[in-house]
Amino acid sequence: MGNISIKTTEDIAGMRIAGRLGSEVLDYITPFVKPGVTTGELDRLCHEYMVNVQGTVPAPLNYCPPGYTPFPKAVCTSVNDVICHGIPGDKVLKNGDVLNIDVTVIKDGYHGDTSRMFFIGEPSILARRLTDVTYECMWLGISKIKPGAHLGDIGFIIQQHAEKAGYSVVREFCGHGIGKIFHEEPQVLHYGRPGTLEKLAPGMIFTVEPMINAGRREIREMNDGWTIKTKDRSLSAQWEHTVLVTETGYEVLTRSAGSPPPPAFITSGATPQPVSA
Ligand code: MF3
Ligand code: CO
Ligand code: CO
Repeated sequence: MGNISIKTTEDIAGMRIAGRLGSEVLDYITPFVKPGVTTGELDRLCHEYMVNVQGTVPAPLNYCPPGYTPFPKAVCTSVNDVICHGIPGDKVLKNGDVLNIDVTVIKDGYHGDTSRMFFIGEPSILARRLTDVTYECMWLGISKIKPGAHLGDIGFIIQQHAEKAGYSVVREFCGHGIGKIFHEEPQVLHYGRPGTLEKLAPGMIFTVEPMINAGRREIREMNDGWTIKTKDRSLSAQWEHTVLVTETGYEVLTRSAGSPPPPAFITSGATPQPVSA
């Protein structure tokens, strides 16, 4: 507690750029996500776009937190019952699959971290509903962000919305502070109680990235050292934005021309969001 950094004006300017670039990688890859493509090919395309077009560095590549082996690819691709940290490879995507692509770019030392869900062809009714509810969870959490609010307010509303729909919230992974460092304080839990945990202040930047399972919340870790799946093999969904606490509310940093619009219930509290073309 109490170690959450307050970003400078210069930091915030850098984080706006990194955030937009991260989102633009997802815009770029969208038309390539279709039946027959492999997750490895999607990774290769994202990696080349980052390095050759944007001049960004993929933060996941060789990322190695204590106790882990270096992550071998540029993005995470998590298909169906994979909750997070899926490693791109020779898996061929087929009609009905659901995919999360999680992109983190580094630009001028600053990290932009964002993920979206993609349907390959036509999704099942369950997959669409889980994906929609998870998107609402992320935005409900974001909508609570303002000076004086608590991190527990974010977790509570996410958990309430997910469980009301009959789904469960993954506990082992959470959102995180971010800036020049990929993962820093605070931990942003996607469950909890209102009025608990750290109080928010202008200049804080962190991610909101709920992982919601259609079935039970328990996870299992694969032998590759990274991939996390649902224990009961149920579908899992995730969305992620990087968000700045402003004087009056919040500003979503990971937005670009191709960002899906916020749900209709998002009407106020946000700093006006210019989305540059
Ligand atoms: N982008 C993920 C997050 O949202 C972290 C991925 S770590 C990696 O925090 F090494 F798997 F890429
Ligand atoms: Co993140
Ligand atoms: Co991420």
